[in-house]
Amino acid sequence: MILNEDDRSFDPAELQRVLGRVDGVIAFVTERYTAEVFAAEPRRAGIVANFGVGVNHIDLDAARARGVMVTNTPDVLTDCTADLAMTLLLMVARRAGEAERYLRAGRWAGWKPGDFLGARVTGKTLGVVGMGRIGQGLARRAHHGFGMRVLYTSPRALPADAERSLGMATRLDLDDLLRGSDFVSIHCPSTPVTRHLIDAGRLARMRKDAFVINTARGDVIDEAALVDALQRGVIAGAGLDVFEREPEITAGLLQMENVVLLPHTGSSTMDTRVAMGRRVLQNLQAFFAGREPPDRVDR
Ligand code: DGY
Repeated sequence: MILNEDDRSFDPAELQRVLGRVDGVIAFVTERYTAEVFAAEPRRAGIVANFGVGVNHIDLDAARARGVMVTNTPDVLTDCTADLAMTLLLMVARRAGEAERYLRAGRWAGWKPGDFLGARVTGKTLGVVGMGRIGQGLARRAHHGFGMRVLYTSPRALPADAERSLGMATRLDLDDLLRGSDFVSIHCPSTPVTRHLIDAGRLARMRKDAFVINTARGDVIDEAALVDALQRGVIAGAGLDVFEREPEITAGLLQMENVVLLPHTGSSTMDTRVAMGRRVLQNLQAFFAGREPPDRVDR
């Protein structure tokens, strides 16, 4: 067994060596399993069990072509990631990060009626881009907790009873959703098709007083275009847990008060990370027992 004791990400050369020495490997989002990595010989590993639901860092076609199985950890992180999306939404709307920085800096001189006037959340309209498990989780929180109206985009419509349970959630095309939402939250996977889905043109379709939230993958938003839109007041603010070039953050974002930035902590609760680990083990156990792993994604 090779144990990565300090959670350091392996670079492609190290991954090639590891795949040549072990029968199965546990992958992190920070490691890139490219076609080159899978092509290295000799290769021994027959499974890459990803610790996370998103697999955009793994070339699934290359894995399939080399006969390497890939699994992920769905379901167990849905609630905590949806909670974090709601956290970002509330924080950016109510200027919580900015206000806390102000207080910690010793600048607060007492209550004033005009201090930190934010945006009301209750009763507003949420646009969910990608209505999978986490998107639906956020929509439930927003509708049932905050009385929000729900718009969504998705390749497939939700069943009618699911739309009804979200207060008649309405499926729209992306541009209409952007025009009609007070908060737009990204929940689609990162693929060649969704890369820069939210670009300068799409940001310009949003309302000036609207906010964008991203707990999915950074490259779904064109980060340079986002910084420009925020600087020019095209939209009101952003709550981001993911970035285009993690762990690098586009400098402009760090200067802006109307932006809440978290270090990719969507699933980061003890309960969820333990559950993700168990899910990884279930997939590995099934694979080594000659059974079909429950969370296979390489098909
Ligand atoms: C996920 O599960 O996809 C998280 O973003 C960590 O990889």
